[in-house]
Amino acid sequence: MGKQARAITEMSLKELVKDLNKAYADEWLAYYLYWYMAQTVSGRNYHGVKSALEKLAKDELEHAGELADLITKLGDVPIANPMDLEKNANAPYLLPPKNTADINRIIRIVSEAEAEAIEVYNKLAKKTFGKEHVIYQVITHILSEEIDHEEMFENLLER
Ligand SMILES: [Fe+2]
Ligand SMILES: [Fe+2]
Repeated sequence: MGKQARAITEMSLKELVKDLNKAYADEWLAYYLYWYMAQTVSGRNYHGVKSALEKLAKDELEHAGELADLITKLGDVPIANPMDLEKNANAPYLLPPKNTADINRIIRIVSEAEAEAIEVYNKLAKKTFGKEHVIYQVITHILSEEIDHEEMFENLLER
């Protein structure tokens, strides 16, 4: 951010960076959880869930990158130590099921994580609307993908 960008900002940059870092932590936890479940899911008909988890993991990693980019543009840095991710996240890490063939449980875990993400980005969108145009745009882009993710997994459950 340059001088003029800072001058027009109507929000506390410190607060904004904190919010973005919390979302950044969420994305890494979601990425790890989905990636892990994609590696381990088993049982009959696991292929559909595996490829859906792989797609979501890829998206969450991209979201982490987009948030890191915003944070560095605001003159700060994203969380450096992975040990700090969970304690800064908006929600605790959801453990994958012990039974790797429990596909309904996996779907419920993903739905819960996506519902939380939708809430987080909805709040951030309201907070930045009309104040931080560039950040608002990135947030609503991520929000639209989280909405797609939730729908994708709800549809898996209905089959
Ligand atoms: Fe995400
Ligand atoms: Fe997501």
